[in-house]
Amino acid sequence: MKYRKMIALGAVASILSSMLSGCGQAEQKRIIRIGHNQSTNHPTHIGLTAFKDYINEQLGDQYVVEVYPSELLGSQTEMVQLTQTGAIDFCVASNAILETFSKNYEIFNLPYLFASTEAYHHVMDDEALTDAIFSSTLQAGFEAVTWLDAGTRNFYTVGKPIESPEDLKGLKIRVQQSPTNIEMMRLLGGSATPMGFGEVYTALQSNIIDGAENNEMALTDNGHGDVCKYYSYDMHQMVPDIVIGNVAFMEGLSEEEKAIFEEGFDILSETQRTEWTTAVAAAKERAANEQNVQFIYPDQAPFVEACAPLHESVLAKNPAIKATYDAIQEYNAQYPSVAE
Ligand code: GCU
Repeated sequence: MKYRKMIALGAVASILSSMLSGCGQAEQKRIIRIGHNQSTNHPTHIGLTAFKDYINEQLGDQYVVEVYPSELLGSQTEMVQLTQTGAIDFCVASNAILETFSKNYEIFNLPYLFASTEAYHHVMDDEALTDAIFSSTLQAGFEAVTWLDAGTRNFYTVGKPIESPEDLKGLKIRVQQSPTNIEMMRLLGGSATPMGFGEVYTALQSNIIDGAENNEMALTDNGHGDVCKYYSYDMHQMVPDIVIGNVAFMEGLSEEEKAIFEEGFDILSETQRTEWTTAVAAAKERAANEQNVQFIYPDQAPFVEACAPLHESVLAKNPAIKATYDAIQEYNAQYPSVAE
């Protein structure tokens, strides 16, 4: 943590000095600030760097894009708030936390919503399904401009492997700050401990929590595999990351600029998705070989069964998402689980 803080302080110092020294030549240029909570090795940072290079190349006479990784601009929730007010222009937010800004996002937080990765990708790429959700926060000052893959979320623990929901009983498991996730943990029998991503490592290390849930990258990139030695593929969620932009900034762009930004968002999502598969495979190998993490493949059926009531209760409380839910079932039928 000390090391990470030193890096963060170093980065802030260099941001400040570049802001000061840049005043001369970049005086006329509008700085576009983008924040995210991953490391610079992460596919999301690589995608955002490709976006930055493209915009700087196409519109470099007017704009300078700057990407701030590793929660340098705050936690995800704080970054969403900064994007709302226009203090920064874009950030990457997990769909999980966006449900507290708009109930429309609840749909993609449901456990076992997608039958396969193919179904998940097709749904998220279907603008007829996502457009209304992505623009549902215009009034709140931000809109979604594209989505990014964040893989499949699974449980990982310090002391004992999770083979069935029974094993979660009595365990404090960190979840993202979303009511759907808290309810999911309740149904699975564990005790939900919501907190921001950046706090998880210390919480694991100091036994404040017994485990967490995330994709494989969290083991290596965030060091969680140094503490948690059991990673169980219950595959409870595929929660996308959403790139959001400040509405006033987006609306202030000319038609020509808008088209270039749209192309930039496509470059971002394509680069991130290509990098994702390789990054997850590499993370898994490193976790197994260097961190001695044991990968467990439990029977998923009891997990699916325990979570099933959540679909009904969320749809009953939020009937507006039912049409999207039904459309997702059609994709699920078309791209079923390979295990079926
Ligand atoms: C993933 C996801 C992040 C999210 C994190 C979390 O890493 O990509 O957007 O913040 O999980 O669990 O909080």
